Amino acid sequence: MVKQLDLLVWTGESTIHIPCALSKVEIDCLKHCRELKPGAEGVAGDIVEFGCFMGGSTVLLNEQLQDGESHYTYDLFKWQDWMKGPYGGTKYQPGDNFCDEFHRNTDWQCNRLYATTGRIQNSTSSQGQVKLIFVDAFKEVSTAIHGIRNWFSHLEPGGVVIDQDFYWEPMQYTYCHLFYYRLREYLKPIVRADSMLTMRVIKEIPHEFAKEITTTDTTMQELSACYEYWTK
Ligand SMILES: C[S@@+](CC[C@H](N)C(=O)[O-])C[C@H]1O[C@@H](n2cnc3c(N)ncnc32)[C@H](O)[C@@H]1O
Repeated sequence: MVKQLDLLVWTGESTIHIPCALSKVEIDCLKHCRELKPGAEGVAGDIVEFGCFMGGSTVLLNEQLQDGESHYTYDLFKWQDWMKGPYGGTKYQPGDNFCDEFHRNTDWQCNRLYATTGRIQNSTSSQGQVKLIFVDAFKEVSTAIHGIRNWFSHLEPGGVVIDQDFYWEPMQYTYCHLFYYRLREYLKPIVRADSMLTMRVIKEIPHEFAKEITTTDTTMQELSACYEYWTK
């Protein structure tokens, strides 16, 4: 299944269509669900977004920024064949850069938005405290490991992690199930909407703990417990 949806946003003069890889339920949840808005609970900090594509999730998340906060987004901005689905057209060829279109879709309305082009595995975190991490690019285990090791210990208690791929196609990205299971003392699942899972940060994640995240030391016993945890 490929999600195909345009996010329609009114610029004040015209409507623009942002090709978006979120479902309608996921968009509604990002727009309206209070549990996904840590600022509404008084939690302050930056927003970190992994995988922004054409900016659909970006414009929705950026509305949560408050004074003094910044929004950091990371993407390859490199066209791949599967993107024809959500994009609904063939304007780009594999390998083309679509960063300009991302900026056209977002710059007119987003505040303090800083986009980094390239592999997340090669990026470094520069922020202080973070109130929200949106995950839509942990498509390889190395990306997830790098993202968790370098950003998750910046999360403020009361903040949220929104993983857009958590229930996407059973058996895909299952390393994330293991990682969040290992982080269960710090991250509590609170809202599910289609393939998106939101977790509340209930305790600061120690940097020492986050930097040990790996898949190589698991056991059958731990995998069974992890399965129980997510299916109970
Ligand atoms: C499903 S799309 C994101 C959809 C977007 N959140 C939206 O609202 O439409 C996944 C994005 O992750 C990016 N991506 C995947 N792996 C990446 C990596 N290792 N580093 C940087 N970006 C990556 C892709 O370029 C793609 O734009």
